[in-house]
Amino acid sequence: MKDYKRTLVTAALPYANGPVHIGHLAGVYVPADIYVRYLRMRGRDVLFVCGSDEHGVPITIKARQQGCSPQDIVDKYDKIISDSFKGFGINFDVYGRTSSKIHEETASEFFKKLYDSGKFITKTTEQYYDPEAKTFLADRYIVGTCPKCGNPDAYGDQCEKCGSTLSPEELINPKSKLSGAEPIKKETTHWYLPLQDYEQWLREWILDGHKEWRSNVYGQVKSWLDGGLQPRAVTRDLDWGVPVPVEGAEGKVLYVWFDAPIGYISNTKQLLPNDWEKWWKSEDTKLVHFIGKDNIVFHCIVFPSMLKAYGDGYILPDNVPSNEFLNLEGDKISTSRGWAVWAHEYLEDFPGKQDVLRYVLTANAPETKDNDFSWKDFQVRNNSELVAIFGNFVNRAVVLTHKYFEGKVPAAGKLEAIDREALDEIPALRASLEKNLENYRFREALKDAMSMARVGNKYISDTEPWKVAKTDMARTGTILNVCLQICADLAIAFEPFTPFAAEKLRKMIDSPLEWDLLGREEILPAGHQIGAAELLFEKIEDDAIQAQLDRLARIREEREAAAKAAAAAEAAAHVEPQKAEVTFDQFEAMDIRTATVLEAERVPKTDKLLKLTIDTGIDKRVIVSGIAEYYTPEQMVGKQICILANLAPRVIRGIESKGMILMARQGDGKMRIVSPEEALVNGATIG
Ligand code: 2FM
Ligand code: ZN
Repeated sequence: MKDYKRTLVTAALPYANGPVHIGHLAGVYVPADIYVRYLRMRGRDVLFVCGSDEHGVPITIKARQQGCSPQDIVDKYDKIISDSFKGFGINFDVYGRTSSKIHEETASEFFKKLYDSGKFITKTTEQYYDPEAKTFLADRYIVGTCPKCGNPDAYGDQCEKCGSTLSPEELINPKSKLSGAEPIKKETTHWYLPLQDYEQWLREWILDGHKEWRSNVYGQVKSWLDGGLQPRAVTRDLDWGVPVPVEGAEGKVLYVWFDAPIGYISNTKQLLPNDWEKWWKSEDTKLVHFIGKDNIVFHCIVFPSMLKAYGDGYILPDNVPSNEFLNLEGDKISTSRGWAVWAHEYLEDFPGKQDVLRYVLTANAPETKDNDFSWKDFQVRNNSELVAIFGNFVNRAVVLTHKYFEGKVPAAGKLEAIDREALDEIPALRASLEKNLENYRFREALKDAMSMARVGNKYISDTEPWKVAKTDMARTGTILNVCLQICADLAIAFEPFTPFAAEKLRKMIDSPLEWDLLGREEILPAGHQIGAAELLFEKIEDDAIQAQLDRLARIREEREAAAKAAAAAEAAAHVEPQKAEVTFDQFEAMDIRTATVLEAERVPKTDKLLKLTIDTGIDKRVIVSGIAEYYTPEQMVGKQICILANLAPRVIRGIESKGMILMARQGDGKMRIVSPEEALVNGATIG
């Protein structure tokens, strides 16, 4: 393994068009923060870079929906997101914004150099254009009917109802979201990075050189490369983004996925205007990108090809740890459907419990496969692991030290086998913890830290110092000395995972944060004064969990009601195809007339039938009609209706029915009687 001098850690820049949720935290930001905290503790030179990704079409759509500017949208979410990160103790060295001036300059310069050195090709293609709004339309701005499921509100790139990936050409009846006009095709020219030119180099660099990368990352890269790379457009026709800095490119901006990764560089520049290059252009720097699985192609293929094209010594990532997705209560997290636990709401609902979520998201991290977050599991992990094992052990050790030794670490006497065994487990666990953290296996690493807490909890339970104290204070002192050393170990080992509790514990027992001390047996010398006992974690009660489950149940109900309403509207809108032709004579043969309902009653033991006595102008007669679902007998009396008078009589439920009432029926079966626009005499003929 290469010995680097410094590590540059980037975490995917979140889109500033909505708050971050537990999927983002579990997938990218908590693991990145764990890694950085660990490196810092080890005294490594680290830079942790992130920021808001403030360009792209969804931001412009949201602004339009909310009747404000894209800048207003990104200002709002940049604040919510960055506050959430702070709230969870995710402390970036810099959190920049891609709408900043320094970013625009950096991204423009990057494009310009590639442009000037002939690294792009141009292509002229036909794109959808809104002739009324006079603008090209991104796929998201085109809506129409999904050819796969008939959803009338599918987007030009995707149908959110059936999940199909679409292209605007496939939509039935495409319409511009801006003006409602039918889009037309118009020629436009864009710049493309010919990724195929970098294919061989990418194969050697990743497929031959980075077999250690996570299999999901390696596998995705391999399948992209095996499928053959194509030129990728790096510009778009849009009015929000970094303007394309060349003549003749008015109305065009850099594609968001071209400028966003450059954001890592511009944010570094913002923090270190004179010193940023050593982080990006020195072979002594280890670059690690933390991302979600939907970002793999951009970080492993597109951005590296951009850097390679640029040259000038830019380094490439040493690793790209990428997680799979986290589900919520068995369902895919979805921002548009509101199916999420939002980071900023969690901080309000569970004040002071940031560590619990960090712990649960790490214990359940979707490192190798999609995983599920459930509130019950959250509660169990808090109550039976953090409270019952880690917290309980620390509490017993600290309380007993105060009880028997006035809060001073007692001296250890001769160690017995049970003491030795407990203490010896810590260095072994430390070695495993280090290996797992260095190799981005955070779930396993957390298990190692938790095993240390289990060692302590089991040791104090087995040695029972509260009983020993009745007869042997020297032995009690030895036991508590061992316990307190393990507490000090935990205050170090848990720092990356539960930093708030680890800090509280360090303050409580006045212990140091030095990785090298982890597993040493005299972290706290005899006589060292510790502070008063405080609970590290609190039990989470059922009502707090129920409140969260109720909130999700409401979202599910609303979603189901909306889906039902949409299905009903769709059924109602369904129009029957035309029937086979009839001749004029056949039509003329039908005797259709006006009539008035004189009496109406339900036909006993049926739900649908009414028996109507009507005045047809010719006679008074009875018609049995299946309209009871839509009209009560009272509503029918006095109504003028239209009937087919010469329909052959039929006996229905023992009643002779002479004729048929004309009804209009829509796709969902709903019916309405057909009446003349104004009252006519009974017996007026219709035709
Ligand atoms: O998927 C996302 O949320 C993107 N905004 C990530 C961008 S990462 C980087 F390239 F900026
Ligand atoms: Zn569909």
